[in-house]
Amino acid sequence: MVVLAVAVFVTLSSCAVGCPGSTNSTELKLWSIENQPVAVQLASVFKEMESLRWEQARLQQQQHALAQMHKRSHRRRAQQEVGTNILTYGSNDDEKDDPHLSEDDSRRRGDPCFHYTVLDQAWRATNTTTKVKMCDRHVKWKGWYRLYYKGRSLQMPERCVPVNKCGTHSPLWLVGRHPKRRNGIVTRNVCGHWKKNCCAFRSTPIKVKKCRGNYFVYKFTKPSSCYLAYCADINTLVCGRCRRNQSCVSRDKINWRCKRKKRMSSRKIHFFASYPGQLKGKVNRIKYSKVLVNVGRAFSRRTGTFRAPVKGIYQFFFSTQAASAGVKTDLWLVVNGYWVAVSHTHVPRPSSVGSLSTYMTFLRRGAVVYVTHNCGRSWANAASTTITFGGSLLAQWK
Ligand SMILES: *[C@@H]1O[C@H](CO)[C@@H](O)[C@H](O)[C@H]1NC(C)=O
Ligand SMILES: *[C@@H]1O[C@H](CO)[C@@H](O)[C@H](O)[C@H]1NC(C)=O
Repeated sequence: MVVLAVAVFVTLSSCAVGCPGSTNSTELKLWSIENQPVAVQLASVFKEMESLRWEQARLQQQQHALAQMHKRSHRRRAQQEVGTNILTYGSNDDEKDDPHLSEDDSRRRGDPCFHYTVLDQAWRATNTTTKVKMCDRHVKWKGWYRLYYKGRSLQMPERCVPVNKCGTHSPLWLVGRHPKRRNGIVTRNVCGHWKKNCCAFRSTPIKVKKCRGNYFVYKFTKPSSCYLAYCADINTLVCGRCRRNQSCVSRDKINWRCKRKKRMSSRKIHFFASYPGQLKGKVNRIKYSKVLVNVGRAFSRRTGTFRAPVKGIYQFFFSTQAASAGVKTDLWLVVNGYWVAVSHTHVPRPSSVGSLSTYMTFLRRGAVVYVTHNCGRSWANAASTTITFGGSLLAQWK
């Protein structure tokens, strides 16, 4: 028992530096831990493990931030030396490591994911019916809270909870889904169930944020009346154990499970086609009949059009060879009916000029792309591959 008490003391004091938002009430409970039954002691130990895990995540983020800083200064130096701009893609993707978070220390200081109060009150669980009725109107809410059940992280229910549960008369549940991490802080309505009306009490809205590590923090506010209390959904205990690459899902909002997140792997879309003949004057849509590559089958040889099968960034190219002296030759890339890029050649003397144009754009699913021969003369034969049209999906958007 002595060993246990010492361990708890050490983690608490090391935590006191790092997390000023942690609770006072739990500390008090922990001081007299030896007098508690084994179950309670175990629960405390679980909670401490939780906080250690949190500490570890924080250290990892700091390390990540340092690595980022190092990379950035390195890049800056490289830029100064070469004198060019190096383009980097920012990503606000939920699944990947988020460099923005660790980039800015001051921002983290204000991040509720790092500063919340542990709300570990078993009576808040959706499966408890106590004789005592609690009312959250009597609580002085301040800052952010994270819900626990005996040291294990859980979430608010997203469904109507039967009356007289959660240690109160009218249990408060979250209307609408919990946010994703990329949503940041969101405002959600809460409803209190009473007398067969799931939203008999439209309580004051609260704020919710999803944190890294698959948990949520809530900025609770004083409910509109008594007896109302915020619920902790006992069915979501499993959610706290979901891995980084998993999300917690439920169809009926009762049975929850960890499910592997869908990978953002891009679909593969590539095509390359040529027109093995000569074109003269206006040809509304070039029917590139020789298709060399058509991965994803988004290009139609019959119509000469490409139809974007997914939302994303696409790159296209089209080429020709013009050979007629004194004649302008224009080919246009047409995206959803708009002429967006031209391949223009004008040969004053009898000679021949090849032309290649490229275009990159964001397309929605179903967008139509083709090439029109507006004027002039283009030359190709079966072997030359001079009149061509091709493209690729560079990155898929969700
Ligand atoms: C509520 O659920 C928890 C976890 O499944 C369980 O340990 C506890 O005994 C349940 N409480 C009641 C009153 O059924
Ligand atoms: C992702 O999940 C798989 C199991 O589905 C696991 O083997 C792997 O380690 C996980 N990766 C991360 C980064 O958690």
